[in-house]
Amino acid sequence: ANPTKRPSVIWLHFQECTGCSESLLRAEHPTLERLILDVISLDYHETLFAAAGHQAEAARKAAMEANKGKYLLVVEGAIPTKDNGIYCKVGGQTAIDLVKECAAGAAAVVAIGSCASWGGMPSSGPNPTGASSASTVLGKPVVTIPGCPPNPYNFLSAVVYYLTFGKLPAVDQLGRPLFAYSRLVHENCERRPHFDAGRFALEFGDAGHRQGWCLYKLGCKGPETYANCPVIGFNDVGEVSWPVGCGHPCIGCTEQGVGFTKPIHALA
Ligand code: SF4
Ligand code: SF4
Ligand code: F3S
Repeated sequence: ANPTKRPSVIWLHFQECTGCSESLLRAEHPTLERLILDVISLDYHETLFAAAGHQAEAARKAAMEANKGKYLLVVEGAIPTKDNGIYCKVGGQTAIDLVKECAAGAAAVVAIGSCASWGGMPSSGPNPTGASSASTVLGKPVVTIPGCPPNPYNFLSAVVYYLTFGKLPAVDQLGRPLFAYSRLVHENCERRPHFDAGRFALEFGDAGHRQGWCLYKLGCKGPETYANCPVIGFNDVGEVSWPVGCGHPCIGCTEQGVGFTKPIHALA
C-alpha cells in the first residue's frame, strides 16, 4: 500500500437539491480545493466531476475496485423506495441499487444532509416517492450529518477524525456525531439572555426583532433542535453567522419532525 495515497471518497447524489455540496463548497478551513486536491481523492461526485456519462460511471467502478474495503461512501439526498425505486436513477441504475452496490465495499458510510439522514425535504408528506434515509435502505446505522444544508464543518470534522484515527467519531442514537449534535441550539444561542428575560420579537422587523431579541414567538425551534450552529457559523455569511444570528428563527433543520414536516406557526 502506498502510505501517501489519499483516501478514496465516492459521493452519491440522489433526491436532493445539492445544497449540501454547495455548503461544502463554501467551507474555508479547509477549502474544498484543499480537501479534494490534498486530503482525499474524490473519485466520484456528479456535480464536481469533469467526466460525464459512461466515463463517470467507469471511474466510480474503477475506484471502488481499486480501493475495495477502504473507501469512504458519502450519500447526499434521500432514496425513493416506492415502485421499486424508479423515481431516481443514475446511469440506468436505481438509487437503491447504487447505494447498496457502493456501500458493499465501503469502509464507512456517511449520510450528509437531512435528506440522506432521515428523508428530509423529499420525504415531506405525502411523500409520493417513498423517500427514505440511507440507513433505512442499507438496513444498518450510518454516520449522519443532518442539516439543510448541514454545517460543512461537521462533515469535514467527521471525515478528518476518520482519516486521523481510522475510526468514526462517537455518535448519538440517530448517528449524529456527538461533537456537533449533543447540545440544543437554544443552549448556546446569543439571543438566550433575551429569552430568559422575556424579551421576544413578535413580528419580523419590529423593534424587538431589530434589537436582536429572542425569536421564540416567531416559531424558533432552537429549544428542541440539537445542533452546534450558534457555536460554529457557516456558509454565505463569512462563517460568522447562522440562521438565528441573521434574524431568522431556527426551523429545526437537523431534527426529523421538528422542521419540515410541520409548518412554522407564530406563537404570539
Ligand atoms: Fe438540499 Fe437540504 Fe437535502 Fe442538503 S439536506 S440536499 S440542502 S434539501
Ligand atoms: Fe432559543 Fe431561538 Fe430564542 Fe435563540 S432565538 S434563545 S434558540 S428560542
Ligand atoms: Fe438548521 Fe436551526 Fe441550525 S434551522 S442550520 S438547526 S439554527
